[in-house]
Amino acid sequence: MEALRTAFTLAPSSLIRAHQSKPFFSHSFTQKRSKSPLPNLTQFPKSKFTKLNAISPSVLTEPTSPPEEETGSLDQDEKFDWFSNWYAVMPVCDLDKRAPLGKKVMGLDVVVWWDRNENEWKVFDDRCPHRLAPLSEGRIDQQGRLQCVYHGWCFGGSGDCKLIPQAPLDGPPVHSFPKACVAVYPSTMQNGIVWFWPNTDPQYKDILTKKKPPYIPELDDPSFSFQMFNRDIPYGYEVLIENLMDPSHAPYAHHGILRQAQPR
Ligand code: FES
Repeated sequence: MEALRTAFTLAPSSLIRAHQSKPFFSHSFTQKRSKSPLPNLTQFPKSKFTKLNAISPSVLTEPTSPPEEETGSLDQDEKFDWFSNWYAVMPVCDLDKRAPLGKKVMGLDVVVWWDRNENEWKVFDDRCPHRLAPLSEGRIDQQGRLQCVYHGWCFGGSGDCKLIPQAPLDGPPVHSFPKACVAVYPSTMQNGIVWFWPNTDPQYKDILTKKKPPYIPELDDPSFSFQMFNRDIPYGYEVLIENLMDPSHAPYAHHGILRQAQPR
């Protein structure tokens, strides 16, 4: 539990600003395939980490052993494609079925909303196809559709436009035109988390049948206790992971905030 608690401590913003003054990673993101539930964080080739050591004057910069030789060129298959993986969008406990919620994940603006007609959380592009208003500013209408706040267009769980209020009833069915549809990201709920696949290309529509999000059995095991929450922080995951791997800072940087041993 201590490790778990520590894992949720965050660095003060002053420390984060100091880290942000230099780029953290300078290597290409290539990795070996792994069955680890956290493959993206743990399996970079060791030789790549020698570059990481150079980013902070407080970190040992001399390698303790000669760097490993790069062994030939990597196959195309071994390149890590950031947009061909599942990503957590929100824990369900932080979502409200009555209102859409906007998030930025992987640099993409998405809206998460509960589709009561399909009994599923949906993740859409957070732009109305009409005038690009954020759909996250909209509402769930009486029929359970996502309604844009600007001119009231309504969308179903497949991204299809169900209603354009201004369109004449006896006119062409403009709401059914493809350009009136919202881009939908593949999504699913697992471990109490809404996940999305950051690509709306139709070829990924059924990606869940081929590849699933990493499963974390402890989150579904009642003998474990945990706390889940979402918080927007103004830096990348690299800085956060570095911070979480450094629990010795907690009694000092979080002095008086967290329940833990007194600093010496
Ligand atoms: S911008 Fe959404 S309905 Fe007009």
